[in-house]
Amino acid sequence: MKFDIVTIFPRMIRGGLEEGVVARAADRGLLDVAVHDLRDFTTDRHRTVDDMPYGGGPGMVMKPEPLVRALASIRDSRGVPSTVVVLSPQGKPFTQADAVRLSALPHVALLCGRYEGIDERLRELVDVEEISIGDYVLSGGELAALVVIDAVGRLVPGVVGDAESVVAESFSRGLLDYPHYTRPAVFEGLAVPDVLVSGHHAEVQRWRKRQALVRTFERRPELLAGAALDDEERQWLEDLQKTHRG
Ligand code: ADE
Repeated sequence: MKFDIVTIFPRMIRGGLEEGVVARAADRGLLDVAVHDLRDFTTDRHRTVDDMPYGGGPGMVMKPEPLVRALASIRDSRGVPSTVVVLSPQGKPFTQADAVRLSALPHVALLCGRYEGIDERLRELVDVEEISIGDYVLSGGELAALVVIDAVGRLVPGVVGDAESVVAESFSRGLLDYPHYTRPAVFEGLAVPDVLVSGHHAEVQRWRKRQALVRTFERRPELLAGAALDDEERQWLEDLQKTHRG
């Protein structure tokens, strides 16, 4: 899978991709990541990427021309991206479902916004999807792009060694993950739950399933409406709701 990232801080992106799962996948040729410095697509001596906002107000706005040129260059040298993502707090909230959807595409371009935002006309000239990684304002889209590349890249077949762990993990069924334990069996007087050392596989599975549901109920109840629950889980949930109501 190909990623192209357009940014005014290429070192920030490269640094973020130097280590970890995505870095190894790039080394193995599973992910092809190219980083483009937006300033390389300016035409003036100062390599200007921003300008004052029409109508006044604070901050600067990213000029559309360098971004459009960067995208044209990507198309010429790397092929037409399947989708162009703009990272901004005005975007649709990024979810695991988006990560799954994007991971099935062969080529994703990511534009990192800076300053007060990008000239609105870019969105009219280029078909883009705008993504936010959460309801807070970062100083730029770079960290958000790294988040998206990580979440998407690790879903590409072969990138994560243990495919089962990707399928079983948090959010894949719309629930939070169950609690995990490793050795020692007793740490600071705290023992690992008996069921996990019982060797009883079916009981372990059932305990985990229940823990995932209870956790989601306690921490993120709004997720339950969209979760795929089986009969047993629905029964547990009813009981939890009854107990909760008192
Ligand atoms: N750029 C600034 N804040 C952002 C956010 N929350 N998500 C994506 N891009 C951003």
